Amino acid sequence: MAGIFITGTDTGVGKTVATAALGLALREAGVNAGVMKPIETGAQLVSGRRRGEDAAVLHRLLAPGDPIEDVNPIALALPTAPSAAARLEGATIDLARIREACARLEARHDVVLVEGAGGLLVPIDGKTTMADLARTLGCPLIVVARQRLGTINHTLLTLREADRRGLRIAGVVLNEWDPSGDPLSEADALNLQELRERLETPVIADLPALALGPSHTWSPAALAPLVGRFDLDPLVPNLPKAPRPL
Ligand SMILES: Nc1ncnc2c1ncn2[C@@H]1O[C@H](COP(=O)(O)OP(=O)(O)OP(=O)(O)O)[C@@H](O)[C@H]1O
Ligand SMILES: [Mg+2]
Repeated sequence: MAGIFITGTDTGVGKTVATAALGLALREAGVNAGVMKPIETGAQLVSGRRRGEDAAVLHRLLAPGDPIEDVNPIALALPTAPSAAARLEGATIDLARIREACARLEARHDVVLVEGAGGLLVPIDGKTTMADLARTLGCPLIVVARQRLGTINHTLLTLREADRRGLRIAGVVLNEWDPSGDPLSEADALNLQELRERLETPVIADLPALALGPSHTWSPAALAPLVGRFDLDPLVPNLPKAPRPL
């Protein structure tokens, strides 16, 4: 287990939230988890360097000792697909640079959680997609799916495409959060059940929707209700039964 690539059925489905909570769960179980957001778009300029919000959150919560340049080697300004953001800046996204950064992080950690941008077929350039990035990093996938009408189709399509490309799927995370802020209705719960019955890969977490204030910050305390939701066995089968202290 060197790297795990966290993708989703779409942008904004909870990949960063799931990655942070999974990282904390692994750490609680005594696994030294690192994090990476190899490509982030919509990154603000802070003290002369582009700073992606996802990378900043994951770095702060899980691996503040790692160089941010390795956690987030590619940060681009435009909040679009990486291919479009790179094109606007006349930049080339260098997969070798990402591979090297990932290898350095893997040398420092038991496992590195790598958060993709958007979903599996988001383009990096004219030829490569997030799926190719996962492959070149040699990572199995975790697919984050958000509960909403349409998620059965989005999730099964993502899993099928991963399978078609020979990518291994380590698990699915079902995120009950919905942008409407409405609680899970009976219809939503039934919809999720229909999805669950069609999955051939394990659901490693059901994440409840947290009630967050308008100016919340992600902290271990804020994420605590999600951390205990992960079944780590499919990811790390030989964990000690009694968690080691951090
Ligand atoms: N379980 C949850 N409880 C409460 N809020 C949530 C939950 N999951 C996601 N959210 C909200 O949805 C927002 C988007 O989630 P997140 O940033 O994790 O998505 P993402 O898939 O990483 O998006 P991107 O494609 O931009 O990287 C979060 O900032 C948070 O406000
Ligand atoms: Mg994110």
